[in-house]
Amino acid sequence: MQILDGKKAAQAIRGELKIDVAQLAAEGKKIPHLAAILVGNNGASETYVAAKVKACEEAGFKSSLIRFEQEVYENKLLEKIQELNADPDVDGILVQLPLPKHISDEKVINAIDPDKDVDGFHPANIGKMVQGQPTFIPATPHGIMLLLKHYGIDTKGKHAVVVGRSNIVGRPMSILLSANTNPGNCTVTVCHSQTKNIKEFCLQADIIVAALGKPEFITGDMVKEGAIIVDVGITRETDTSRKSGYKLKGDVAFESVAPKCSWITPVPGGVGPMTIAALLKNTYKSCMQKNG
Ligand code: GUN
Repeated sequence: MQILDGKKAAQAIRGELKIDVAQLAAEGKKIPHLAAILVGNNGASETYVAAKVKACEEAGFKSSLIRFEQEVYENKLLEKIQELNADPDVDGILVQLPLPKHISDEKVINAIDPDKDVDGFHPANIGKMVQGQPTFIPATPHGIMLLLKHYGIDTKGKHAVVVGRSNIVGRPMSILLSANTNPGNCTVTVCHSQTKNIKEFCLQADIIVAALGKPEFITGDMVKEGAIIVDVGITRETDTSRKSGYKLKGDVAFESVAPKCSWITPVPGGVGPMTIAALLKNTYKSCMQKNG
């Protein structure tokens, strides 16, 4: 079993971006600027957004963190998005999900200028992705594709089982893996909460992408010998023995699955850092498209 080390792969990508941005700055050109919007005080969202902003700073990007209280009116959020859409200095706009229940994810995502939608969630960008046109690919699936590429994983003709059908991960992942690209060219099965006997599908998989948000759902008895395992889950479980008060759990039971597979992503240090690297890549791309 070998580790798909997302931390290492992400460092390499971020290092390359840092050099590219330093070059832009040296030439007096505009540097990439990411604007992140965070609503409320969800602990996990706070951590993710802080990590995104920190990664921007380390790579020499400009970043703005815009915070709203949990009770903010939807209109106020939409107004801020319009303001950022109109600001020529802003290249990427990210609204951290989940949003409070009184705010429509759909309205918020649709309000973002597709040319600044570095999360790749806008329907115009999803449509382009489905058709294989150049666009912003959602950060987590994009990061997973970059990770597979970094390790030279041969996916052609393999059977990939994606467990989970969210707009953020499962759905786009299934499209990317089935595309005529490298990595890609997989035969893809999407399993979800209504799938009967997920184990049967998983046992047929050469590649499993677990993105359902249920800690340790995928166990060793569900995995074929030599399979490649990508674990997208990062659930916080209470652990009073730790300073943070929690432990991160993936959707894969690492101890029982690892001995059976050929490659596996750890949690933490697998998909998470790749998501951030992909977001930076998208923001850099947006800056270059507008100013390059
Ligand atoms: N919440 C969980 N993952 C993501 C992501 O990739 N982008 C945003 N904006 N919110 C998220």
